[in-house]
Amino acid sequence: MTTNNEKLQHLQERKEKILAAGGEQAVERQHSRGKLTARERIEYLLDDGSFQEVGPFVTHRATDFGMSEQIFEGDSVVTGFGTVNGRSTFVFSQDFTILGGSLSQVAAEKITQIMDMAGKTGAPVIGIMDSGGARIQEGVDSLFGYGNIFLRNVLFSGVVPQISVVMGPAAGGAVYSPALTDFVIMERGIGQMFVTGPGVIKAVTGEEITMEELGGADTHMVRSGVAHFAGEGEEGTLNIVQQLLEYIPQNNSEQPPLVLTNDSPDRTDETLRDIIPDDPSVPYDMKDVIRRIVDNADFMEVQESFAPNVLVGFARMDGKSIGLVAQQPAYMAGSLDVDAADKAARFIRFCDCYNIPIVSLVDVPGFLPGSQQEYAGIIRHGAKMIYAYSEATVPKVSVITRKAYGGAFIVMSSVMLRSDINYIWPQGEVAVMGADGAVNILYGPELREAENPEERRAELVDELTNVFNNPYRAANRGYVDDVIDPAETRGKIIRALKMLENKRDSLPPKKHGNIPL
Ligand code: HXC
Repeated sequence: MTTNNEKLQHLQERKEKILAAGGEQAVERQHSRGKLTARERIEYLLDDGSFQEVGPFVTHRATDFGMSEQIFEGDSVVTGFGTVNGRSTFVFSQDFTILGGSLSQVAAEKITQIMDMAGKTGAPVIGIMDSGGARIQEGVDSLFGYGNIFLRNVLFSGVVPQISVVMGPAAGGAVYSPALTDFVIMERGIGQMFVTGPGVIKAVTGEEITMEELGGADTHMVRSGVAHFAGEGEEGTLNIVQQLLEYIPQNNSEQPPLVLTNDSPDRTDETLRDIIPDDPSVPYDMKDVIRRIVDNADFMEVQESFAPNVLVGFARMDGKSIGLVAQQPAYMAGSLDVDAADKAARFIRFCDCYNIPIVSLVDVPGFLPGSQQEYAGIIRHGAKMIYAYSEATVPKVSVITRKAYGGAFIVMSSVMLRSDINYIWPQGEVAVMGADGAVNILYGPELREAENPEERRAELVDELTNVFNNPYRAANRGYVDDVIDPAETRGKIIRALKMLENKRDSLPPKKHGNIPL
């Protein structure tokens, strides 16, 4: 008869084997690439000692291609729950040391089990991707597993935050799980995502390209917009997850965490009075404005390198999380193009899902003109921003710092799209277009015949500026709520957000809307 002691020792031995993952050699290979193992990543991400593993003994049931000889308890993914900064978090981490982290049917079941628990208990899911994709030896069973993950990514979208951390390969259809989550964080030089790899591309099109060029972090940060953040090294990448979670609530029925601040809500900043250059065509850096108004100048920018003409990201005001949407006049004059519209619309919708108030800083000359933009569907993409702002029921506060021209004025959190409190600086202009352009259209023939066209043009521009291109016409009509001293912007926004704390608004009953995609 086996004694209790022996049973415990047996358990201990089996657990040690599980902790050894795919064996010494495979772990060494993982480390030699500068990568931590799946468990080491979880240990680093979660609070010390908080991780509770679920399903460490689960094994696959495949028998084809000698798979009955290749059984690892726990299979190719480590799953469970724990805490990050004391808050409940579910996590799955693919183990590349076991069959290249390839997804078996049971690995998928382990993942969907914790996703279901996260949905029921209302806590975020963090997925760490490091996998060769579908377990080839399991064929269609593996695809069945992927499909079940995708379904949950969608069902829990807008219910609990989902964050994907790509710290290895993510190839083929496997990329669609990260793509369906709220944020994709890629480790620079290590994470790679593509639907078809370099080999297939070469065979089909003849194009030669490296894995990194095709699907590395820089590609997805700058060109495709698939990644929201890129991290340096294993720890640097996982630190981004911890930082991001600090701004967002556990689920869609909670408020984001409050972080006490010593930055006074009434702090004024006189440098803001001179931040706008006298010449309206000269750029300035909107990040300088952001840093001066938010708590302790902390701004966590999202998609920093993609469509930099619009800025989106998280900050706090009087300790409360806000989502910032702003033009960047220092890049393409802050005009809206297809990528900027996509980027802003998606961020606005995230904030609205998770009760994060939206603060918009507006300096927009309009949509970027040109056949390239028209052919790329600026009509369809620009419409997403109107849709996202209109649909959002969270508190919305805007400040027009300089230009708000034409359709872009309407798009950028205007009162018409039920933005709650809207301010404008004295340098602001709400108009159909800039005074120069308007003079050309209205007075073209007159100017061509004028004795001194330049003098006449200057007179007309002045006249138009006095009548239209200033903040007061919009303020007279009540389209903006006040013209404010730029130095007082922080206090004005914080007081508006405080007033809006208990805001309730809703949409007409419907199954769901049909956002132009
Ligand atoms: C089974 C796999 C595997 C897979 C890797 N391995 N990918 N086993 N199924 N998909 C195994 C390898 O056989 C090897 O086993 C171990 O994992 C490590 O792999 P290596 O190739 O030695 O590692 P490395 O050189 O780092 O290359 C990593 C890699 C490469 C680039 C990911 O393994 C690779 O190209 N794998 C195939 C990728 C792929 O085409 N997957 C299918 C994509 S389609 P041993 O025993 O030698 O250590 C797909 C569809 C998803 O995923 C659809 C969802 C809807």
